[in-house]
Amino acid sequence: MPLETEARAQIRALVAEFRPEHGDLLAAMHSVQHHLGYLSSEAMEVIAEQLGLFPAEVYGAASFYEEFRFTPPAQTNIRWCSGPACRLKNGGGIRDAILATLGLHDIPGDTEDGRAGVILGQCNGACELAPMVWLEQPSTHRIEFVGNLNAARAVRMARALRDGATIEASIEETKRA
Ligand code: FES
Repeated sequence: MPLETEARAQIRALVAEFRPEHGDLLAAMHSVQHHLGYLSSEAMEVIAEQLGLFPAEVYGAASFYEEFRFTPPAQTNIRWCSGPACRLKNGGGIRDAILATLGLHDIPGDTEDGRAGVILGQCNGACELAPMVWLEQPSTHRIEFVGNLNAARAVRMARALRDGATIEASIEETKRA
């Protein structure tokens, strides 16, 4: 049995309500990722212990779904809306401008220093703001919509995040273009 570290105890508390053979695996993984931002190997071990599975089974299930990540999330994520209204209004150009500014090639991706990342989003019905992204801070669960973007605004916002600006300051930057 591995040493019960503080981190391990925290993960154990997050999954304490889940039971073996109750179809709880997905909910347990969601609970951990929601609170910690990703599924560490330690987290997958604890989930496996809790549900009477092998860690490889937990990893196998998690890797089947795009939403689970196995490395710590970026400080701020830009969730790019891939929905039809945003695409019609040059959402693809916005995505490319953001990726180029952050030195990334694809979604999902994080800058090397972990300050900013880009992840895929789906339409959430706020199409009047198209083209849009959400700025998400995993450590605080804060989410801000940034709509009516164009390439110049997107570049200013991404540059600010890349350089360590706060979410507020990064949104302010979009108003300067
Ligand atoms: S398509 Fe982007 S918010 Fe609806």
